[in-house]
Amino acid sequence: MPTSASVLFCCPHLRLTLRLFNAFPFRFRSIRPLCASHASSFTSGDTAVYNSNSLDKGNSIAHKRHGGLEAFSSPTVENVAIDVNPPRGTRDFPPEEMRLRSWLFQNFREVSALFAFEEVDFPVLESEALFIRKAGEEISEQLYNFEDKGGRRVALRPELTPSLARLVIQKGKALPLPVKWFTIGQCWRYERTTRGRRREHYQWNMDIIGVQGVAAEAELIFSIVILFKRLGITSSDVGFKVSSRKVLQAVLQRYSIPEKLFGKVCIIIDKMDKIPKEEIEKELTMLGIPMEAINGLLQILSLKSVPELEEALGSDADAVDDLKDLFLLIEQYGCSNWIQFDASIVRGLAYYTGVVFEGFDRGGKLRAICGGGRYDQLLSKLGGEDLPACGFGFGDAVIFELLKERGLLPELGPKVDYIVLPLDPQLQGAAAMVASTLREKGRSVDLVLENKRLKWVFKHAERINASKLILVGDSEWQRGMVRVKNLCSREESDLPLHELE
Ligand code: HAM
Repeated sequence: MPTSASVLFCCPHLRLTLRLFNAFPFRFRSIRPLCASHASSFTSGDTAVYNSNSLDKGNSIAHKRHGGLEAFSSPTVENVAIDVNPPRGTRDFPPEEMRLRSWLFQNFREVSALFAFEEVDFPVLESEALFIRKAGEEISEQLYNFEDKGGRRVALRPELTPSLARLVIQKGKALPLPVKWFTIGQCWRYERTTRGRRREHYQWNMDIIGVQGVAAEAELIFSIVILFKRLGITSSDVGFKVSSRKVLQAVLQRYSIPEKLFGKVCIIIDKMDKIPKEEIEKELTMLGIPMEAINGLLQILSLKSVPELEEALGSDADAVDDLKDLFLLIEQYGCSNWIQFDASIVRGLAYYTGVVFEGFDRGGKLRAICGGGRYDQLLSKLGGEDLPACGFGFGDAVIFELLKERGLLPELGPKVDYIVLPLDPQLQGAAAMVASTLREKGRSVDLVLENKRLKWVFKHAERINASKLILVGDSEWQRGMVRVKNLCSREESDLPLHELE
């Protein structure tokens, strides 16, 4: 009977679809090359269709253990071998990556606890309306949004702040203020993937709701400094650029620009380092901002010190007050060398109203490490009553780049207390009893579940970094004992079950 495999690879969004039909007898061929290297070089619009013939008539190829092809049992059933890569811009976390991620998140959690913040969480899928803002933000254009099966418009959250605001509104007056919450969650943005920018990333957020003064911002910045210090990052590696949206507000007021344009102006100005100055001027003009005001705005953005700002805006300007207070507080926290004023920091989210800040790497190679600011009017934009609020988002991607570059990533291997091996398949139950006894005492135990030879077990013990090996053998078990071998010192002894620690 002829074997015929028709293979169709189709890669709009890097998805590879393989169709096999008439596949008798079961002589499968692996689809080796397309997965990693080829697929990752496609842009999202590319489509590649592979003619099945070359695979069909070509060499027979090694079987894929987990490819699902083995299960193909009927000539009439159509099987689909999926692309083994995650969608473009997203990541898998195999154990070695997961250990690092957990280590980072543990640091996020411990720092948040040091500042007495409580952990909260929200759904990854939210109502689309929560993220729809009309200021022209990049984040709105990058939304993963769709209609669910009930016809509701939903979106994968691109950030956590709107969800937090939603929960604060929902809790209403029952919520004792100030609220100090932190959260760690996955966010989705349809970004052009670059170093440190992906289509999914995790963010650590800390937010304070209900505090009006910049003592809140100072506490937030200090908490990030503490995190950096724990990770081994110093003020010569990274710093914070700080400004206030009130700087732009003051300039707009000076030229009597309507307040409703404020958010849009901020979003345009935020693109300063991405698009030419002429383009910025054009976009501002289209918004109805007169050239004189545009020049005033651009001029103020070049300021790099608070005294210069004071000179430009006058000493009674709110922005100047806030920034002077913040810098004084930061000095009292002992962190002056971490922060600098930079009027060009505006941030790309429309809801910020006051102090804004970004963590940057002094090497200048990486995108922003973290960013945040004050957003006193977000709650009313979502239908609630406004409360003073500020917070930051700290992504997992850029910090890993930085830690890798500086050689600061810890070497984290697996760690297991015991490995338990029944020396005879009949003793599997006895070995399970031994494992249970130890687990009840809080020990981690890898119970060998198949008939394995000692040689394999020693190799495995080394791989999982087990401290001790327990051999459950017939003669010892008959006497209520097991053989315990310390894998470090190589000492061994027979112990009764109840003496296992
Ligand atoms: P954001 O600046 O859009 O702010 O994001 C915060 C951080 O998330 C960035 O500095 C970066 O570390 C990380 N990040 C953002 N997009 C990506 C991406 N595509 N790939 C990898 N990492 C990324 C916010 O999201 C605000 N909601 C933060 C906030 C909380 N403001 C007040 N409270």
